[in-house]
Amino acid sequence: MTANWGSSLSSDIAIQDLTETQARAELEQLADLLNQANADYHGQDAPQISDAEFDRLKLRNAAIEAQFPKLKRDDSPSERVGATVADGFSKVTHDVAMLSLSNAFDDEDVIDFDARIRKYLGIPQDAELAYTAEPKIDGLSLSLRYEQGVLVQAATRGDGAVGENVTTNAKTIADIPHRLSGAPDVLEVRGEVYMSHADFEALNARQTANGGKLFANPRNAAAGSLRQLDAEITRARPLRFFAYAWGAVSQALSDTQYGAIKRLETLGFSVNPLTGICKTPQDLITHYQQIEAQRATLGYDIDGVVYKTNDLALQGRLGFRSTTPRWAIAHKFPAELAWTTLEDITIQVGRTGALSPVARLKPVTVGGVVVSNATLHNEDYIKGFDSKGVEIRDGKDIRIGDWVQVYRAGDVIPKIADTDLSKRPEAAQPYIFPTVCPECGSDAIREDGDAVRRCSGGLICPAQAVEKLKHFVSRAAFDIDGLGAKQVEQFYSDGWIAEPADIFALKARYGSGMQQLKNREGWGEKSAEKLFQAIEDKRKIPLSRLIFALGIRHVGEAASNLVAQHFGNWAAFEDAMGQAHAHEGPAWDDLIGVDGVGTVMAQSLVNCFAQDAERASIDRLVAALDIQDAARPDTAGSPVAGKTVVFTGTLEKMTRAEAKARAERLGAKVSGSVSAKTDILVAGPGAGSKAKKAAELGIETLDEDGWLDLIAGL
Ligand code: IVH
Repeated sequence: MTANWGSSLSSDIAIQDLTETQARAELEQLADLLNQANADYHGQDAPQISDAEFDRLKLRNAAIEAQFPKLKRDDSPSERVGATVADGFSKVTHDVAMLSLSNAFDDEDVIDFDARIRKYLGIPQDAELAYTAEPKIDGLSLSLRYEQGVLVQAATRGDGAVGENVTTNAKTIADIPHRLSGAPDVLEVRGEVYMSHADFEALNARQTANGGKLFANPRNAAAGSLRQLDAEITRARPLRFFAYAWGAVSQALSDTQYGAIKRLETLGFSVNPLTGICKTPQDLITHYQQIEAQRATLGYDIDGVVYKTNDLALQGRLGFRSTTPRWAIAHKFPAELAWTTLEDITIQVGRTGALSPVARLKPVTVGGVVVSNATLHNEDYIKGFDSKGVEIRDGKDIRIGDWVQVYRAGDVIPKIADTDLSKRPEAAQPYIFPTVCPECGSDAIREDGDAVRRCSGGLICPAQAVEKLKHFVSRAAFDIDGLGAKQVEQFYSDGWIAEPADIFALKARYGSGMQQLKNREGWGEKSAEKLFQAIEDKRKIPLSRLIFALGIRHVGEAASNLVAQHFGNWAAFEDAMGQAHAHEGPAWDDLIGVDGVGTVMAQSLVNCFAQDAERASIDRLVAALDIQDAARPDTAGSPVAGKTVVFTGTLEKMTRAEAKARAERLGAKVSGSVSAKTDILVAGPGAGSKAKKAAELGIETLDEDGWLDLIAGL
């Protein structure tokens, strides 16, 4: 679709200022755009707008409908299912999560990757450390489960934890064997489904001949073809598959990455012929350049080169961060670029009050996707400086009307790379960044050392309050069925909910009496009851979800898990937040001692609890909940689960970081200082005062080998 997103909508007018005529016209436009976008996404897998843009338009539509209920159209896009999961496929929970890869963008990142791994494992620079290097296929990942050599299930990645069951469709792909001989009893083979350039061109030619929709690129064509409810359509689309990884296995495939790939090849899978072994970062870079040189003639899309630690025992030791392995990285090819006009700069106010400038662009195709918005990061970025005050774009500022260069790197939000001064309109003026919040009129303040200007309105700012509520009900937080962003917006704008605690009072306030949910437009007796029940069900909530749901700056899902596991229960967490308020003392040291919690995150957590209004709002929420203590990691059989361990002196077989991560994986709490609470002291050579103190307190003391014996095999 080539609709002019940037200029044809009246969407810059604040909802309360819209006249009825404008609202009607905009709802019509939005219905067209969103229904078309839905069809592009579901029917053809050829999205022309980003998910973020889609969500923005949907919200705008819902907000106008909330303001003008009688203008709601029969074909209102708010009645349609969201554009995230295809209906009709059953869900598959992956035994082993399907993770993504962190990225390297230049040679230095590759050198850092190797250095990080060496540091973590304690491998010196001059000792050999091998990696595999192979193309990063631009398709969609698929997990194939074989039991007793028979293909029993094929699942897409989905959100990494839960994917879609596409077994019937996967069986139509020629590269995917239905039976294996000599395979482990259980084997999950992972790889990429893709479409070759030639097959893609031929498919689009057929689509043209049949009057069907054209696919934007081979990846969308592959995704659309695999996610067909009718497997015969998939069969007619020539998909291919490269195997490059595995999930659950009952028996190891090999002791090296390269050996495992060779084994998969022997079992009958296609593996990428450009896979090689490299022994230094320079080798990796050379291999990358060789693959890049062949990119145009490979006949299929690749978007980088993936490096993996070859030794699988080392992979095991390195383990994972929250969503990516430490032992692998994707070295991406440079992003695609395009030039277009910057039509406007608008400001979005986020959950934490950050004022984020957004470039509204004349739509332009960048790497097969139509881009109409790009992030401008912050006011310095617009002025031509990075976060350290160093000039970017040779210090050129960005102005409305400019001819700007847009780029996309991977799936990230488009960015502005450059501006062409020779094409700058004479009347273009430097952009003046607002110093008041465009949503609530409060001062927007930029603190020393912060690149971001923030609305100081806190909970009185409607944008912050709504974004906080949306975050609160989002999937990784409270995930309340039937209460999504749209409903939150509506309830908020009608004054039904102003803060999370109000959600749990909805039934008491609107389940009976004068105003009732079931009488609202779009609701009925059944749907209202269902929502009340869904809310009731979520009163019981795991501690980690609650912490994440609070939407505290810098505290993401992974950090919330770590914090929850560390404190175990709400009372201990809340108590620690209070005790650490001065940013010093034992409670503070304990907090920043949690692996994965840095000073910035700790300050943010503690400050949130120190603000009276925030605190009162949290207290009201907590009073309505039944908070479940954090589940300890699965440490059955671990002799150190629940124990407090201190490492001191020099460790020779592992680094401190590895020792700590491994102990924590086994359920131990690692502390930096010896006290009466310490259970085990692991003392290497050179241990000093800590060993002495442990001896005085009669604490069990082990040397490094003793410790490794204790946890051997776990
Ligand atoms: S390894 C634990 N190898 O890239 C990591 N991934 O950004 C497992 N991909 O979701 C992935 N080519 O869909 C790996 N040679 C390759 C790949 C590859 C493409 C995709 C895969 C993954 C994504 C991560």
